[in-house]
Amino acid sequence: MQAWLCETLDGAEALRWQDLPTPEPGAGEVRIAVKAASLNFPDLLIVRGQYQIKPPLPFVPGAEFAGHVDAVGEGVNQLQVGMPVAAISGTGGFGTHAIVKAARVLPLPAGFALEDAAAFAFTYGTSHHALVDRAQLQSGETVLVLGAAGGVGTAALQIAKAVGARVIAAASSDEKCALCRALGADASINYRTENLRESLKSLTAGKGPDVVYDPVGGDLAEPAFRSIAWRGRYLVIGFAGGGIPALPWNLALLKGASVVGVFWGEFVQREPQASAAALGELAQWYAKGLIKPVIDQRLPMSELKAAFTRMGTRQVCGKLVLFNA
Ligand SMILES: NC(=O)c1ccc[n+]([C@@H]2O[C@H](COP(=O)([O-])OP(=O)(O)OC[C@H]3O[C@@H](n4cnc5c(N)ncnc54)[C@H](OP(=O)(O)O)[C@@H]3O)[C@@H](O)[C@H]2O)c1
Repeated sequence: MQAWLCETLDGAEALRWQDLPTPEPGAGEVRIAVKAASLNFPDLLIVRGQYQIKPPLPFVPGAEFAGHVDAVGEGVNQLQVGMPVAAISGTGGFGTHAIVKAARVLPLPAGFALEDAAAFAFTYGTSHHALVDRAQLQSGETVLVLGAAGGVGTAALQIAKAVGARVIAAASSDEKCALCRALGADASINYRTENLRESLKSLTAGKGPDVVYDPVGGDLAEPAFRSIAWRGRYLVIGFAGGGIPALPWNLALLKGASVVGVFWGEFVQREPQASAAALGELAQWYAKGLIKPVIDQRLPMSELKAAFTRMGTRQVCGKLVLFNA
């Protein structure tokens, strides 16, 4: 097999494409022949040692991928060689083959494209857990999605629409805003050129959004929190902008609002049945055409470093997918 190997925590530039011995699956594991893998923001952080999960070196990055079961370890009965599957494994996806615990493998329903499967569970799982479970988003409520043209952002936008909410998409360029409106957002705000608070006031008749979905953090958090509606829910998803915001707590008091933490990976570990039910609902929405990954670019696996650069420089709209020939 071949894979991108991370031997030092010096970022994507230090990754090397290497020949490696093809591993055999142990008990409870399967080997997957990877067809497609997608890039998620945590992949950027993990190769710099900046993610909350720090795998021992060397490791193959790549948290999310899809392909076919290639070999099955002892005690694995529900997966057979040849089955099309997706996997969320934290690492291992940016190569030709990966060993994964069977519990982290999702057999694909008929009609689920491998390209979409490689770009699905991480972002849609996170956004479903955030909006449907943690925020209890209701039909008719208004959601502000920050970083709305990114991976989790586009998933949040589509899920909020599937639930019947009104979506205000916010992003850093007119092109990203146009994409969000094309995906169904009811309104958009370019937070590089517009005043976020003023725009939110006029788009919500002064009331503010019921739910804020924030994967960006930094300087956007305080004006977004100040704008939230009475009984609003502020979803803390991530800090792609770099800064972890510090908010004055009196803002939560004044709005009767909640700051709601979202950690999808931990939810999957701690509440596997609830997570499986959420993924089941998402698969149904996919089959009905209510949600579909937005593919920014399809690149050969050899272009992984270019993909990292594109994500790190805020150019990605939706998801970047890397393919093995
Ligand atoms: N809590 C969880 O369970 C969970 C799960 C998955 C991901 N996450 C987090 O969610 C965030 C987004 O992940 P993603 O995979 O959707 O990433 P992504 O596709 O790159 O989207 C991130 C968005 O953040 C904005 N951004 C602002 N400043 C940026 C900067 N300096 N560099 C890059 N992007 C910047 C960009 O939108 P604009 O250019 O429009 O501002 C970009 O579209 C990350 O922080 C990730 O760790 C959390």
